[in-house]
Amino acid sequence: MAGRLQGKRIFLTGAAQGIGYAIAEACVREEAKLFLVDRDAARLHESAARLGELAYRVADITDTDAISDALAEANRAIGPVNALINNAGVNVFHVPLDTGDDEWHRALDINVKGAWNCCKAALPGMIEQGVGTILNIASTHSFTVIRGTFPYPVAKHALLGLTRSLALEYAGQGVRVNALAPGYVETRKAVDWWNSFPDPAAARAETMALHPGGRIASPAEIAMAALFLISDECPFINAACLVADGGLSVLHHA
Ligand SMILES: NC(=O)c1ccc[n+]([C@@H]2O[C@H](COP(=O)([O-])OP(=O)(O)OC[C@H]3O[C@@H](n4cnc5c(N)ncnc54)[C@H](O)[C@@H]3O)[C@@H](O)[C@H]2O)c1
Repeated sequence: MAGRLQGKRIFLTGAAQGIGYAIAEACVREEAKLFLVDRDAARLHESAARLGELAYRVADITDTDAISDALAEANRAIGPVNALINNAGVNVFHVPLDTGDDEWHRALDINVKGAWNCCKAALPGMIEQGVGTILNIASTHSFTVIRGTFPYPVAKHALLGLTRSLALEYAGQGVRVNALAPGYVETRKAVDWWNSFPDPAAARAETMALHPGGRIASPAEIAMAALFLISDECPFINAACLVADGGLSVLHHA
């Protein structure tokens, strides 16, 4: 049976580890061609090799020239890019009035402007091909807020705005733009966050207990949802945000 992503030529950011790596694994399994981008050279090199000598470029998504060069290289390496997954992102967690300008800019530059830089580089080629699909990895922070995580939710709310704006502008040219909003996912970032508490094990147990199913997601489970949205299995899903949080954001009281 043919792979579910046969014919997809995907530009994937933040691919060196975590959710991005899991998405890359799933896309390879479903026979997509992939071009990986990350700013972590050592990890990206190792991950690209482990995934089967995939094409990659070390680049920071906030660097517009580097991203436009990377996109051109992707077109040469895997053929005209017809899918973009904006996965690279960072947690910047503060109390609002303790947030310095540098932290504000870091959160917005990477989580929003970085995604826009990649869209801006990839969209002309998609429009020319008359087909394309963009997936932005948002978060439940795109529509809910946890105190003390400022300005991450500001950035993730804006990423949803970017998703909807581009979806409406380019729907007539064959391009779909959607968002995927994971809740808690078992990645290094989550572990770092638990480790920031005096009792990491208790913090972890508390996170699990919050969830209707008593557990959080694996990166592979998020990758399965990403694969669906980037595939041709949902041609009329556009400007949408698929929530993958085990039901947490619907829960009124634990
Ligand atoms: N882990 C979670 O619980 C969770 C939940 C909801 C949403 N998300 C979102 O999912 C995405 C991936 O998260 P993760 O947990 O796998 O993170 P992670 O930190 O494990 O991996 C992120 C990757 O992005 C890369 N990256 C960061 N900034 C970059 C930049 N400026 N340019 C290029 N590459 C850059 C990092 O080097 C890293 O390899 C992020 O957008 C995050 O906000 C994560």
